[in-house]
Amino acid sequence: MPVVSGPAMGKGFFDREKEVGDILRLLGRDNIALISPRRYGETSVMREVERRLNERGYLCLFLDIMYVDAPEEFVIELATAAFDVASTRRRFARALKDAFVRLSELFEEIEASAAGTGIKVKLRRGLNEEIRADNWTERGRDVFDAIKCLSDKKPIYLVIDELSECVNNMIKKDKDAEKFLQWSRSIRQQSIEDLRFIVGGSVSFDRVVKGISGLSWINDFERVPIAGFSRTDALKFVEEGFNEEGIEYREELGKKILGCIGEPYVPYFTAIFLRMTLQEAGSDLTEAMIEEIYNSKLLGAQGKGYFEHYKDRLKIYYGEPMAKAAKEILREIRLTDEGLPKQLAFHLFREATNEDNEERFMDLLYDLENDFYITFDGENIRFQSKVLRDWWRLYNV
Ligand SMILES: Nc1ncnc2c1ncn2[C@@H]1O[C@H](COP(=O)(O)OP(=O)(O)OP(=O)(O)O)[C@@H](O)[C@H]1O
Ligand SMILES: [Mg+2]
Repeated sequence: MPVVSGPAMGKGFFDREKEVGDILRLLGRDNIALISPRRYGETSVMREVERRLNERGYLCLFLDIMYVDAPEEFVIELATAAFDVASTRRRFARALKDAFVRLSELFEEIEASAAGTGIKVKLRRGLNEEIRADNWTERGRDVFDAIKCLSDKKPIYLVIDELSECVNNMIKKDKDAEKFLQWSRSIRQQSIEDLRFIVGGSVSFDRVVKGISGLSWINDFERVPIAGFSRTDALKFVEEGFNEEGIEYREELGKKILGCIGEPYVPYFTAIFLRMTLQEAGSDLTEAMIEEIYNSKLLGAQGKGYFEHYKDRLKIYYGEPMAKAAKEILREIRLTDEGLPKQLAFHLFREATNEDNEERFMDLLYDLENDFYITFDGENIRFQSKVLRDWWRLYNV
């Protein structure tokens, strides 16, 4: 059965040869930022890149910093991720010993291989004492310097998932976001020979840093977009799902599944619907049955949890009155096949916000485009995805 929660890894990971190949090639000279809307499979791609780099003998650290909301916490997560690589733990301890005086006893334990099971708890406690809001820039440098010593094979790769979310958290909590972005950039510039970064995040980095004029601190990343599956790949993905379950596949069934989901073939929605279909399917699966599963299951109560966050995140990330304007616009475009003329959308925007500011209106539209809600079709705007539009229409959000 296809994976539908968490990143697709190992046997569950399907293809993405082009994206993974592009990233590996570009990493030869650049740091990379992956750009994609939510749920397009970014983390899965990152984990596959990590696997390939490990296979080639490179050291690769993976961090998920979705819930990190202060620079000192970032440094603690970084040190913990480095510490988690068992094969280089002693080397890491040795490299940090001089800089982290209060942890030196613990590091001596590790070096002497006398470390017991509670070592990680002790480490985090110690790091919390050592790394604070008033010294994270120097401490962070010490940790990066120690990481550089972990492998003679260079560069060492740092895969950082949800970096944009983390910066967004810092901005919201008023925790040195600007300083953190400046500092990270200087680390990247000074370490380009030794360290290479692959970062991603499911909120748009550009939108997050716009409010603090931070674009220039992230413009050194080479950007790699992660799009939906191509039609050919999506069909192959569906066929493999049928084969794995020993259910007879016919091309018209695959086409029907894709027809229900609609372009772009977002891996997550494709995987969920495929899984639902395979669970319901017997030997007599027909196109009409697939349509029924789509309407009653994916768009029914069972599918609710998958879509709700698209509604919730307007409130969380857009703030009022932009969230209200966005909702009004989406409510209107769910009704039209050919899309809503931009001028009419501007009218809705003015009513919702009491602002007559065309620039702010266009910013909102670009944000909605970035976040997977809408797409531009000449002078009209439409829902980006059929399945999301169907859901919006049904639940009258
Ligand atoms: N290459 C893939 N092969 C198979 N399934 C995939 C693939 N990529 C994504 N999926 C499907 O999409 C789901 C989400 O994948 P992943 O966590 O990688 O996405 P994401 O873009 O990081 O999501 P988020 O925006 O929540 O961080 C997986 O559980 C799986 O169902
Ligand atoms: Mg992810």
